[in-house]
Amino acid sequence: MKKITIAIDGYSSCGKSTMAKDLARQIGYIYIDSGAMYRSVTLYCLDNGLFDGQEIRTEALKEALPSLRISFKLDPETKKPVTFLNGKEVESRIRSLEVSNHVSQVAALPFVREELVRQQQAMGREKGIVMDGRDIQTVVFPDAELKIFVVASAEVRAQRRYEELKAKGQEASYEDILKNVKDRDYMDEHREVSPLKKADDAIVLDNSNMTIEEQNAWLLEQFNKVVHD
Ligand code: DC
Repeated sequence: MKKITIAIDGYSSCGKSTMAKDLARQIGYIYIDSGAMYRSVTLYCLDNGLFDGQEIRTEALKEALPSLRISFKLDPETKKPVTFLNGKEVESRIRSLEVSNHVSQVAALPFVREELVRQQQAMGREKGIVMDGRDIQTVVFPDAELKIFVVASAEVRAQRRYEELKAKGQEASYEDILKNVKDRDYMDEHREVSPLKKADDAIVLDNSNMTIEEQNAWLLEQFNKVVHD
């Protein structure tokens, strides 16, 4: 069967990662969470004093960026991908509200995007990859054979993230999360470089009222349509 590239984009917390991960496991493809890469760079900035109040020390980040090593490994027990930054596991730390509150700013920097897009394209050279993010179908893999654009209401997405954090034992208020979701939507859609945008040839999935099982089945059906064409 031919190998294809699958690009999944959409708003924050709309379940992209869950569906992309499950699909990749089912069809034996590599899964890459591009958001985790932007989150890892943000964590690096926070840990290394590269935020000066609300400003980012861009010169220092430019210097550090080439030496940052972001990688993914499958946890042998959970079979879920885990993010590593410079050899250290950072999976839980990159999901904190502090990183969520700063990541849009880092993701808006053209030199950061340029470097991460280069790494993402290299990861997808052999196809057989599912990647999710904001600019995967428009910038990273504009020739992807299957493009999905995922949407869901801000309230549904805030509730999902709230439950996710609570399940991990992290403190969070629903109101704060809803504000964070709306702020990030605005920044993702309005930033100058690679704003979140549906590709003309993408299929839209509104999963506000779908279960995980329903969306997984829907996605597998789209995959089968493309590979058996
Ligand atoms: O999907 P996520 O919430 O983990 O993404 C984290 C942030 O990174 C989000 O604010 C948007 C940004 N991002 C991006 O600009 N481009 C991508 N391809 C993926 C994420």
